[in-house]
Amino acid sequence: MKHKQIKSKALNRKASSKPKAKFSNIHVLVVDDSPETVELIKRNLESRGYRVYTASNVQSAIKLLESLEIQLLITDLKMPGENGIELVQHVSENYKGIGILVITGFPSIEGAIESIKIGAEEYLVKSFTDEELFQAVERVLMKTYSTKNSPEKIQPNDFGIMGQSDGMLKVFNTINKAKSTTATVLISGESGTGKELVARALHYGSHISAAPFVPVNCGGIPDTLLESELFGFVKGAFTGATEARIGFFQAADGGTLFLDEISNTSLAMQAKLLRVLQEKEFYMVGSKKANKVNVRVIAATNVDLSQLVKKGSFREDLFYRLNIISIALPPLRERGDDILLLMDFFLTKYIRELNKAPMRFTPRALKVLKEYGWPGNVRELQNLIHRLVILADDPIIDTPDLPESFRYSATRSKGLGRRLEDVEREYIMDVLAANKNNISQSAISLGIDRKTLRDKLKKYKVD
Ligand SMILES: Nc1ncnc2c1ncn2[C@@H]1O[C@H](COP(=O)(O)OP(=O)(O)OP(=O)(O)O)[C@@H](O)[C@H]1O
Ligand SMILES: [Mg+2]
Repeated sequence: MKHKQIKSKALNRKASSKPKAKFSNIHVLVVDDSPETVELIKRNLESRGYRVYTASNVQSAIKLLESLEIQLLITDLKMPGENGIELVQHVSENYKGIGILVITGFPSIEGAIESIKIGAEEYLVKSFTDEELFQAVERVLMKTYSTKNSPEKIQPNDFGIMGQSDGMLKVFNTINKAKSTTATVLISGESGTGKELVARALHYGSHISAAPFVPVNCGGIPDTLLESELFGFVKGAFTGATEARIGFFQAADGGTLFLDEISNTSLAMQAKLLRVLQEKEFYMVGSKKANKVNVRVIAATNVDLSQLVKKGSFREDLFYRLNIISIALPPLRERGDDILLLMDFFLTKYIRELNKAPMRFTPRALKVLKEYGWPGNVRELQNLIHRLVILADDPIIDTPDLPESFRYSATRSKGLGRRLEDVEREYIMDVLAANKNNISQSAISLGIDRKTLRDKLKKYKVD
């Protein structure tokens, strides 16, 4: 469906030299008491692919604005009843993202200047040519995207981490306090919530920032390999060890070692880690000589370590040793308006990187995105925006431009008559899709174990 849409747009573009499809998503409201003017503008703009609505006075325009999603207002100034200036004022005060083009029958510069002062982008004096109208409309739209929806204000804080929600402010507060110490920190949070970002912020904001930051993924590495990676080995320690090699602990000496996915380490490895943390010394594989190191350790986990402690698969003493300072990253769905903030942030980033024209979301699309569950958290949101910026043909991104799972969630959220089983199946499918069908990651996001997830998939006859 989506592919077809993109293709036909591309074909359109080739067939005609006019940039017809460029603003086809734009909804324009034309307000003028002269039916001829309204009709003329409507016909012209529709020929260029705009969607045009009309009103003959300010009152009905205000009503339409409430029920439609308008991106551009074209209004006359002199009309019976309330005049256009009042409409310009109303729109610029109440609708931040709407571009305003004023048309006036009298070359009364005062009215035009007044309207610019209170928020209109441009004015046109009647009678203008079609080409003058098209150009003014395009200029207003471009100005609106780059100023009224300007992402200039959206700046990450000192740590490069976006967020204004209470949960994130708490995180920033703890980062600030933890920066000045070298105490171990345990960062917890679902996949994609920014754990590594926080670990880097802690390191680069500290007094040891000039020393190395060494990340190690403890997940998925067999024990013996992890041991030689972390502690290094001496020549002849095992077959193939033809030369000695230092490990990550030594590489990070004086700096920070980031142990990612710490829950995936074996009990034996946990004992060794505890030893380094307590004694500040370790043994290279194959050596009996203790090596001293001075390393700050930051660990991260996307499962609840205290639960693993209860189950006996994580050492309690190591847990307490790591958890001296703990930072819990809230899932994205609990961060309120941070979702919108992050969206703007990534939108600006990718538009800049990919050298694209400014783009923005319709309020309708924003609503869907805000209500989505984001099982893959910030990473999922980042990937979505990246994809949209690459694919988008229009400067306005609306719900049909979103991937199918989002469109479903928009209609789904309304239906209260659905069976719990259906909701569960749909949600599981969303989580799987967000985790690229990775069972382990999906099980973690869902807070169930892999076997339970497999059983559910079998029950729902999903491969
Ligand atoms: N608050 C934020 N502001 C800006 N970018 C963010 C934020 N949180 C996460 N990101 C970005 O999202 C992506 C995922 O973040 P990160 O790798 O730190 O997550 P994680 O919790 O370590 O994930 P995983 O558990 O899958 O390893 C990164 O590209 C990161 O830069
Ligand atoms: Mg990570």
